[in-house]
Amino acid sequence: MTLRLGDIAPDFTQQSSQGAISFHEWLGDSWAILFSHPADYTPVCTTELGATAKLAQEFKKRNVKAIALSVDPVESHQGWIKDINETQSTDVQFPIIADADRKVSTLYDLIHPNASTTATVRSVFIIDPHKKIRLTLTYPASTGRNFNELLRVIDSLQLTEYHSVATPANWEDGQDVVILPSITDPVVLETKFPKGYKTVKPYLRLTPQPNK
Ligand code: BEZ
Repeated sequence: MTLRLGDIAPDFTQQSSQGAISFHEWLGDSWAILFSHPADYTPVCTTELGATAKLAQEFKKRNVKAIALSVDPVESHQGWIKDINETQSTDVQFPIIADADRKVSTLYDLIHPNASTTATVRSVFIIDPHKKIRLTLTYPASTGRNFNELLRVIDSLQLTEYHSVATPANWEDGQDVVILPSITDPVVLETKFPKGYKTVKPYLRLTPQPNK
């Protein structure tokens, strides 16, 4: 099934390295990053899961739960986690879905037969507390993802969700942001942006990052 931005992330119950997970129940009122990798015991994936584990506090600060997925079975995930911890000097605390029967991979369109008929692609879904998909990305198997970039996207999405601003090209935390074009009422503008804003063009209004 092709999933698009704004779609509800499909619910499922599947085994994981931490036991059976019912996805929507597990999500609760958190944001989530659901990411698939081609296979356990592969070099790029080992570094990716290590990088994610090291960012645990950053995800927690943003109310984001991480969950990984491949078609390898639970025992494989459990053995591999020991290798990740050892080689990446970390402690993987998030679950890895064991999608041996491809139930979740089918729901999320994670097997792309022209890339591989057996392995899941390197995809990412960012899901909001309403269970809506807010970002999708698919990387080649040979390219590890930039998890700092994913945190940057989460920060941007949360600024939009909670502060009515968007983030310009190459925005980094702490830099000026853009007021959503839908906000035009002067009273609302004054209330939401007490630090003021600069109108470069009527459609381009810059304001200091509201949550700083
Ligand atoms: C991997 O580590 O997952 C990988 C590396 C090179 C090609 C394909 C996969």
